[in-house]
Amino acid sequence: MMRKSSNSMRQLWWVAPCVALLLLTPAAAAAVVGEVINLPQGGTYGYSKLYDITNKIVVGMTIWDNENGMPEEKLRFIDTNGELVYKFSTHMGTHSDAPDHVFTNMSSYDANSLKLETLNGLALVMDAPRNTNLTAEVLESMNIPKGVNRLLFRTENTHRHLMHQKAFAKDYAGLKTDGAQWLVDNTDIKLIGMDYLSVSVEADAKQVHQVLLKTGVIIPVEGLILDDVGPGEYMLHCLPLRIPGADGSPSRCILMQ
Ligand SMILES: *[C@@H]1O[C@H](CO)[C@@H](O)[C@H](O)[C@H]1NC(C)=O
Ligand SMILES: *[C@@H]1O[C@H](CO)[C@@H](O)[C@H](O)[C@H]1NC(C)=O
Repeated sequence: MMRKSSNSMRQLWWVAPCVALLLLTPAAAAAVVGEVINLPQGGTYGYSKLYDITNKIVVGMTIWDNENGMPEEKLRFIDTNGELVYKFSTHMGTHSDAPDHVFTNMSSYDANSLKLETLNGLALVMDAPRNTNLTAEVLESMNIPKGVNRLLFRTENTHRHLMHQKAFAKDYAGLKTDGAQWLVDNTDIKLIGMDYLSVSVEADAKQVHQVLLKTGVIIPVEGLILDDVGPGEYMLHCLPLRIPGADGSPSRCILMQ
């Protein structure tokens, strides 16, 4: 929860619904625009916009270290006769990482142990500065409000449409090791969302995941589609599959406003 919200966060909280009110014309009601669903006002929904920020699981979707995206033979669905087995990577598309992804001594910290109360609640979407990775210095300059527990980074990955291209982009933006350590030491963040396949830059992947996952409480949520989502406060809902022993899980993630 954002119990110790700073003044700027409180302002954000009030501004967002007003902006939403201005934008929501009757014509837009119930229309599906890309990944954004506008809902009629005054209904029983309790929110006016829903953003599906989950990557579609399809052949050709961007996957780690592959030029051509998800190959057909790695994505098979079981048919009614049980003839085909549905195989998938626990880290494909939009997914959550569990600590046993990197630590052999944390086998009980699996996908089944990921805390729903961390994965669901108020979240802040922030635009990260372009043309840089997320170092301690860069993160400090972003003035992340105190008390934020869930932060989704909208980086140049979104502007480069990396989640929508087949070929893996090794030079994507993400956390550097000192940035990950800075977040652990200086913020209350328990969920880190990123708009490409990893929260960390490719070069620091192992170290960043170690820094974050050894806390046992921080959940990286990777592969988010944030194209249509502006900076601000949202309700985040992220639901990984309940798979004991898995070191992560594809997750359905949505934002509501
Ligand atoms: C697992 O090992 C790492 C270091 O290798 C340590 O930091 C972490 O606390 C350990 N976790 C548990 C649950 O023992
Ligand atoms: C971020 O780090 C990666 C190394 O993993 C590098 O290829 C890329 O150029 C860096 N991005 C920027 C904007 O500095």
